[in-house]
Amino acid sequence: MVLTHAPQIRALAQDLLDRHGRDPLNLLQILVEVQEVCHCVPPAAQDVLGPALFGSDRLRLPALLRFYSFLSETYQGEYVILLSDNITDQMLGSRALGDHLCSRLGVKPGRVRADGRVSVNYTSCTGMCDQGPAALINGLAVTRLTRERMDRITELINARKPLPLWPREYFAVAENLRRSDALLRHPVPPGAALRACLGRGAEATLQELYRSDLRGRGGAGFKTAIKWDTARKVPARGRFILCNADEGEPGTFKDRLLLQRYADLVIEGMTLAGFVVGAREGILYVRGEYRFLREHLEGVLERRRVQGLLGEGLLGSSFGFDVRLHWGAGAYICGMETAMIESMEGKRGIPRKRFPLPVEAGYRGEPSIVNNVETFAAAAHIGLHGGQRFARHGTPDSTGTKLFCVSGDCERPGIYEYPWGVSCREVLRDCGARNPQYLQVSGPSGSTVPAREFDRRLALEDLPTVGTVMVFGPDRDLFAMTRNFARFFRHESCGLCTPCRVGTTLLADLVDKFEAGLGSPSDLKEIRHLAAVLTTMSHCGLGQTAACHLTDALDKFPRAFEARMQHDTFEPAFSLDEALAEARALTGRDDPDAHL
Ligand SMILES: Cc1cc2nc3c(=O)[nH]c(=O)nc-3n(C[C@H](O)[C@H](O)[C@H](O)COP(=O)(O)O)c2cc1C
Ligand code: SF4
Repeated sequence: MVLTHAPQIRALAQDLLDRHGRDPLNLLQILVEVQEVCHCVPPAAQDVLGPALFGSDRLRLPALLRFYSFLSETYQGEYVILLSDNITDQMLGSRALGDHLCSRLGVKPGRVRADGRVSVNYTSCTGMCDQGPAALINGLAVTRLTRERMDRITELINARKPLPLWPREYFAVAENLRRSDALLRHPVPPGAALRACLGRGAEATLQELYRSDLRGRGGAGFKTAIKWDTARKVPARGRFILCNADEGEPGTFKDRLLLQRYADLVIEGMTLAGFVVGAREGILYVRGEYRFLREHLEGVLERRRVQGLLGEGLLGSSFGFDVRLHWGAGAYICGMETAMIESMEGKRGIPRKRFPLPVEAGYRGEPSIVNNVETFAAAAHIGLHGGQRFARHGTPDSTGTKLFCVSGDCERPGIYEYPWGVSCREVLRDCGARNPQYLQVSGPSGSTVPAREFDRRLALEDLPTVGTVMVFGPDRDLFAMTRNFARFFRHESCGLCTPCRVGTTLLADLVDKFEAGLGSPSDLKEIRHLAAVLTTMSHCGLGQTAACHLTDALDKFPRAFEARMQHDTFEPAFSLDEALAEARALTGRDDPDAHL
């Protein structure tokens, strides 16, 4: 039942304020709960929350609502449908299915039906690329959509059937673990790694981590031991362990599996980190798209408290540590670590200045470890078995094993664990890819790998990756991917700095122009120029990698662009140089990020 009456909404807002200690840092969590119950954050709720949390600063609340895709100021209907718009969903026919659903429901995309019953919209990747086309319905993942399923969903909505009465199989999220290796093959019993580390001591546990040479699994590959070592040495009143489960890179869904089946291992890794650096509190930041995991994760945390694996005096020691969940609300940039910390503090997920680093001043200004879900799982493994055993796998610069999310044109999409250094060819063979034309490794911000490069290795030394391998068959049009990625970055740019805000928009427009067969040689030059500006002048990793897919496409598939050129008379109406000149004129400074 959706809450629509103002007095009840005000009472809900008051109740949430009390439950969250009237702390502005909890604002995002309060808004997520209001949105879930009201399918928007209505004025009645804003009138209570704004003054209670920000006093006269009334603009902060609407700014937040506009920043997060899953929050809205206006009512979204009794049934809110968000169709996953990743390229792999599109390859499975999601756009045609979306059109079919809209016509059956009698609703236009992006609008609420006149009777207020339903809205249909598109969202970035929902992390179900191995079982798409997918959608979120009232925040819950729905997988393997077909025309028949869409017809049945239309009937259920028109009959106003509550979601709990819908067929359960619609909401089934398959684990799809296709290959396990050193990390996942042998289960670690809850508490075993923690017991081993408490016995060994914090310093010796850190030395095991050094010995393992574990590097972060979230993309950048930073050495985990150095991060933990730095955080423990910074003088502080408190320290925090932050687990990054934002998993927003399209094509990535390994953390989903880890939280679904191996949540104990992940939380145990966070607990060990707390023991090593001297933190008492951990926060697991989970992307809103994984709302279906909420009850499961809360259950695991509660069970661990009962088992003496969270809380005070863990396993009879003097060490105390607990973990709570924090829910994201649909913003890819919140996977970037300082944006995530801002979001955890109830603000818009805008990346901070580079320094101080989170290990020096992170959450609440205190030293904070940010690690990926898989990094914590690997740390727990190292905590139990020691660093040497871990370092036996992989390559010299990329030790251990890695989870790879395989999707696209193959018979067996899913999650594959291999030692780092596995070749693309081997992955393609195992997943049943037939005659693939190219791969996209590490998502839109990663690399395009044509068939002639399939012997390259997935490892930090060659093809670094967060673990994403999208397979494109012989009949795929490169431009469909390029357009999808360019629009993704345009949508997800947080807008803070000019090179990224303007550059991603101009690139998306240029891709559209080529797609329409209207490209020109000067457009090609403009793409190169914009790519260089984005890569070198953007404030954070999003902008710095937003053009990689385009420069890769230009370098490796130049004919695809040539085939879509018309003549040389079309010029962009607006260039990034003009935008930067305008920014300089406005601020009076040479630095294009002068407003930062
Ligand atoms: C735009 C952007 C999105 C990111 N998304 C994620 C993410 O979803 N999960 C993640 O662990 N790291 C993500 N990162 C990397 C984090 O900033 C950070 O490096 C990572 O969480 C550190 O953990 P690790 O050392 O265990 O890899 C992202 C970075 C950028 C620039
Ligand atoms: S590079 Fe893009 S996402 Fe990063 S701060 Fe600048 S505008 Fe925001």
